[in-house]
Amino acid sequence: MSDAARSDALVLFGGTGDLARRKIYPALLSLARNGVLDVPVIVVAHSDLDEERLRGYIRDALREEGRLDAAVFAKLAPLLRYVRGDYRESPVYAALREALVGCRRPLYYLAIPPAAFPAVVDRLGDASDVGHARVVVEKPFGRDLATAQALNRTLHRVFAEHAIFRIDHYLGKEAVQNLFYFRFANSFLEPIFNRHYVASVQLTMAERFGVEGRGAFYDSVGALRDVVQNHLLQVATLLAMEPPNGSDADALHDEKVKVLRAMRPLAPGDVVRGQYRGYRDEPGVATDSTVETFAAVQLHVDSWRWSGVPFFIRAGKRLPVTATEVVVELRRPPHWIFDEPPSPHANYVRFRLGPDRVAIAMGVRAKTPGAALVGDDVELYCANERGPTIDAYERLIGDAMRGDGTLFAREDAVEAAWQVVEPVLRNSAQVREYDAGTWGPPEAAAITAASGGWRAPVPAA
Ligand code: BG6
Repeated sequence: MSDAARSDALVLFGGTGDLARRKIYPALLSLARNGVLDVPVIVVAHSDLDEERLRGYIRDALREEGRLDAAVFAKLAPLLRYVRGDYRESPVYAALREALVGCRRPLYYLAIPPAAFPAVVDRLGDASDVGHARVVVEKPFGRDLATAQALNRTLHRVFAEHAIFRIDHYLGKEAVQNLFYFRFANSFLEPIFNRHYVASVQLTMAERFGVEGRGAFYDSVGALRDVVQNHLLQVATLLAMEPPNGSDADALHDEKVKVLRAMRPLAPGDVVRGQYRGYRDEPGVATDSTVETFAAVQLHVDSWRWSGVPFFIRAGKRLPVTATEVVVELRRPPHWIFDEPPSPHANYVRFRLGPDRVAIAMGVRAKTPGAALVGDDVELYCANERGPTIDAYERLIGDAMRGDGTLFAREDAVEAAWQVVEPVLRNSAQVREYDAGTWGPPEAAAITAASGGWRAPVPAA
């Protein structure tokens, strides 16, 4: 994409919110460090600040996140502007128009509660020429299929689909990029990545921590809406999709949508929902909440490639570890000819998506040196990096400013993902309690029982 298409200003709505402090400002600092950010950054917020105090506010936020680098901040600071006011009221848009004089292609970043999207989008449409503008929105993209469709209609009132950048930060993660790259940059996986050789696929997203002060938000979503409908279905899609025909964004999105539509809508029997003991005492959580902090799911992909291969997903808060991992387990050797008992595990490919390492490993059996024909399970590492070199938000904001939509969620993919989870959203399966520090309610074991059980993520090094 040529530089002519680059956004020439970044307008941040909700610049004093939690997302901006924890994720967006650190990403802007990295972009400034790499010379990618050299356009005005206009922060729109209600707080009683002026430009000087805004700079102090952002410097403090960066320090709190352990990301402050004074030399780089000196590059970012002169780009910062402040527009104060309520983004639901018109005066803000007059002030914003003034701040944008000379800019033709702003990127509007809506780091604000989704309930405010319609008002802001409509006012942007009324108040300015949005012909070359772009807009970034964050998940959750609605809370079910109908509200996701309503959100898409709202955005389309003003912005064309190619100008809308829906952030699912998992798609910007180095490890998720490598999963996609590894699948399609090698030829050896393709012949075995199907129902003939793969026995099951497991995705685990485990978090040791709880709702961390986000009780009110979390209690309005739960694990299925918070991470399964988006992050984990996106990862499952990258594992299950057909090879795209080319490298352009639409070729990729077309294949993703195809496989999402092949995923059977979940039935109550495909899901076990859990809630950790003590969740109802968290600030902001209803004392009689039935919202799940854990979900274990069996997904069926009704396609020629995957028919009959279970895709298992489990995600939860207050589990024994923090780790996100995928295990693609192959079928066992058809006949075991050695005197030792076969390993409990068949060959597998393991993708460690975080947080400590980005790793791809293959599990195989190799002979132990000595007289007997006995062996050990060993892992061959294809990649094993400590920590990502580029943060997901840095990558995604940079891409949005260049107008590259490859790593963002397209409208039809978001709607297809809601279609998968829609039937189980309304507490259709009973929520079961579990103790903090365990792998969810005991009933979750039933989901993978016929496939050898859940695989605990490899302990952090
Ligand atoms: C967010 C969820 O989207 O992703 C959080 O709202 C979750 O509940 C977080 O903790 C996990 O992201 P990461 O990058 O830490 O794996």
